[in-house]
Amino acid sequence: MSNEMLSTIPHEPPTVDLVLGIETSCDETAASVVSREGILSDVIWSQQIHAEYGGVVPELASRAHVDKVVSCVTAALKQAGVDRPDLVCATGGPGLVGAVLVGFTFAKSMALGFGTPFMTVNHLEGHLLSALLNDPAPDFPFLSFVVSGGHTTLYLARDVGDYEVLGQTVDDAVGEAYDKVARMMGLGYPGGPIIDKLASQGNPKAISFPRTHRLQTKGKTRVKTENRNDLDMSFSGLKSAVRNYLERTEGWVPADVAASFQAAVIDVLINRIQRAIKETGVRRLTIGGGVAANSALRQRLMTLDADVYLPPKSRCTDNGSMIANVGRLRYNSGFRTVKGDTVRSRWSPDIDMYTNIHSPMPQGINS
Ligand code: KG4
Ligand code: ZN
Repeated sequence: MSNEMLSTIPHEPPTVDLVLGIETSCDETAASVVSREGILSDVIWSQQIHAEYGGVVPELASRAHVDKVVSCVTAALKQAGVDRPDLVCATGGPGLVGAVLVGFTFAKSMALGFGTPFMTVNHLEGHLLSALLNDPAPDFPFLSFVVSGGHTTLYLARDVGDYEVLGQTVDDAVGEAYDKVARMMGLGYPGGPIIDKLASQGNPKAISFPRTHRLQTKGKTRVKTENRNDLDMSFSGLKSAVRNYLERTEGWVPADVAASFQAAVIDVLINRIQRAIKETGVRRLTIGGGVAANSALRQRLMTLDADVYLPPKSRCTDNGSMIANVGRLRYNSGFRTVKGDTVRSRWSPDIDMYTNIHSPMPQGINS
C-alpha cells in the first residue's frame, strides 16, 4: 500500500458507534452491524456444501466465502440503514486460515475504502462476550463457557480483554465429539443439532457412558498432568465408549444412544461450571459457541443456582454480531489492532494481540 493511500485515512476517532463485523472463520459467511442500540442487522449464510463430505472442506469453505461475502455485507449494511460504518472489523482467527483471510482482507479493504479504522477480532472472544448483546447483559466479572466445534474452554471474564482460562478440553472439543458420534451413527453433518433432536425422543439413562469428572492424577497417568488445570475436560474416552457400544451391541436404539451420550456430555459440562462457581465465587454465568444452542444443555443450565445469561440459539452458532460486538467494545476501551497484523489459525483470547492507547506500553506478544 502506498503512503499516499494511507494518508487518505483520517485521524482515528477516539470512540465508535456503528460497527460492521464480518465472520468467515469456518463454514458461515456472516455480517452484522451493531451500535449502542444493539444489533441493527445480522446476516448469516450457512454453507451446505460440506454436508456430503461429513465435515468442513477448507478449500470449498474459502471459495464459498469469496462467493458470498459481498452479498452478505451489502445486505447487512442495507438492513441496518447504514452507508458508512465508524469501524470495520473481521475475525482474524482462530479458524481455517484460507477462510479467515477472505473476511479479513475484505474488511481491511472496506475500511480503507471508507476511510475508517479496521479491527481484528478473536472468534472465541466473540463467543465469550456474546451475552453482552443480551438485554439485560451480565456485568463483569462473569464465567463464560465457550463450547464449539473446535474449542471447549471455561473462562473467567474480568473485563473487556481480561480473561483467564479456568479449564479446557485436553483432547476433543465437545462439538467435535457430537460430530464424530453422529458420523459413527450414520446421522450426517453437523452432528450436534441432529443428536440434539434425536436425543429428545430417547432415554438418557438407557446406557451408562463414562463421565470423566476428575482427570487422572500421578501414578495412573494417562494424560500428562503438568500444565493441566483441575477444571480441564476430556471427551475422547466418551467418544470411544460410544464407538465400542455401537460395535458390540446388536440392534442399538439411535434415540437412546443419542440421549445417553448427550447426558454424559452435559453432566461433565455442568460439573465444571459448578466447580468453577465454587472456586471463583463468581455466580454470573454465560455460554457461547455452537453447542450452547443445545436444548437439553440450555434447560439444565436454567436449573443451576446461578445467574445465567443465555444468548439466543441463533447467536450461539457463528455469526457477525458477536464479531462487531467485540470490535466495538475493544475499540471503545482503547484497544487498537497492531499495524501489519495478519490472520492466525490458533489464537487464545487470553493472549492479547492489541496495543492500548490508554496504556503506555504495547501489550501481549507483540510487545
Ligand atoms: O460455534 P460454531 O458454530 O462453530 C465453531 O466455531 O466451531 O459450532 C459448531 C459446532 C458443531 O460441532 C455443531 O455440531 C455444534 O456446534 N452444534 C451443536 C448444536 N448446534 C450446533 N451441538 C449440540 N447441540 C446443538 N443444538
Ligand atoms: Zn464459533
